[in-house]
Amino acid sequence: MKQVYNFSAGPSMLPKWVLEKASAEMLDYKGSGQSVMEMSHRSKDFLAIIEDCEARMRRLLNIPENYKVLFLQGGGSTQFSMVPLNLLGEHGKAGIINTGAWTKKAITELKKVGKCELIASSEDKTFTYIPKDYTIPTDLDYVYICENNTIYGTKYKQLPDTQDIPLVADCSSCIMSEPMDITKYGLIFAGAQKNIGPAGLTVVIIREDLLKETDPNLPTMLDYKIHVKNNSLYNTPPVYSIYICGLVMEWLEDIVGGLDNMKANNEKKAKILYDYLDKSKLFKGTVEKEDRSLMNVPFVTGNEELDAKFVKEATANGFVNIKGHRSVGGMRASIYNAMPVEGVEKLVQFMERFEEENL
Ligand SMILES: Cc1ncc(COP(=O)(O)O)c(C=O)c1O
Repeated sequence: MKQVYNFSAGPSMLPKWVLEKASAEMLDYKGSGQSVMEMSHRSKDFLAIIEDCEARMRRLLNIPENYKVLFLQGGGSTQFSMVPLNLLGEHGKAGIINTGAWTKKAITELKKVGKCELIASSEDKTFTYIPKDYTIPTDLDYVYICENNTIYGTKYKQLPDTQDIPLVADCSSCIMSEPMDITKYGLIFAGAQKNIGPAGLTVVIIREDLLKETDPNLPTMLDYKIHVKNNSLYNTPPVYSIYICGLVMEWLEDIVGGLDNMKANNEKKAKILYDYLDKSKLFKGTVEKEDRSLMNVPFVTGNEELDAKFVKEATANGFVNIKGHRSVGGMRASIYNAMPVEGVEKLVQFMERFEEENL
């Protein structure tokens, strides 16, 4: 089999250990005579899978009892609507810090159902930093951030201090990459397809007191309370994605040894790449150093033709999906949990060679 290193921003690499285990269990899951894909979501086997998945996630992230974990569908994009539909309350208004495409989409959806207070934005410098100087008004139902912007490669190193106002964070591209203090958030959501499992699953972690009365006309599937009441089984959940998510949690807990170890590994990988970018005469990282993401590393040569040549040659050499997002161009190496250290080392060796040949 041809070995490639997949730097895709999502869907992205899954740990080899997970794929091998899923492959071994594909035709006959634990003597059931069936694949998990074929199982009833009400079966004993599947209920054990979803319960184990949640229990592991709770242990890994140290999720307190007063938070519910939901396994939903519709991706991060559905959360852009579900969050305001469920969390807007007495003020009818939420505050957002705009750090690029993903918060812009959240703003668009918020404005359809409520008022939007733009607390701060980094658009003045094409979203290459995380805003830090701002005041948060008090008349807000929640404050919304994208904790790691997958496209621009920015990451909050310190969360906004929202006092008593619930903080809502889109953690699609950073969840499980390091330990988190869940008590700092009112709600976290994440599309699975980066650090959790395959596409088709969205995880929501919500503090119980935010499960308030909603508009009676709110569509049932968009109501968090319905999913809480039904333990994420109101309708048919994405059973196979939840099963793989469970295996990813097992890998994180039993093989990696928890999120402190995962963080150390992620920091090691990111350092290799950023150290090289900082000394390279050809390539340049695009994000302010203090706001750099551990997961998504955008870089450019400053010459579009050379960028295209690099992407072409990288792909031919087995470094795939390294082209930057279509809205920003350049390159982006997404180095999620499943990317091994040697994948980043080999990429840097390839970049060094390319630099020598093209400078
Ligand atoms: C940070 C972030 N939020 C939201 C989304 C949208 O997720 P989905 O495509 O699952 O709707 C993405 C997609 O890549 C993302 O990176």
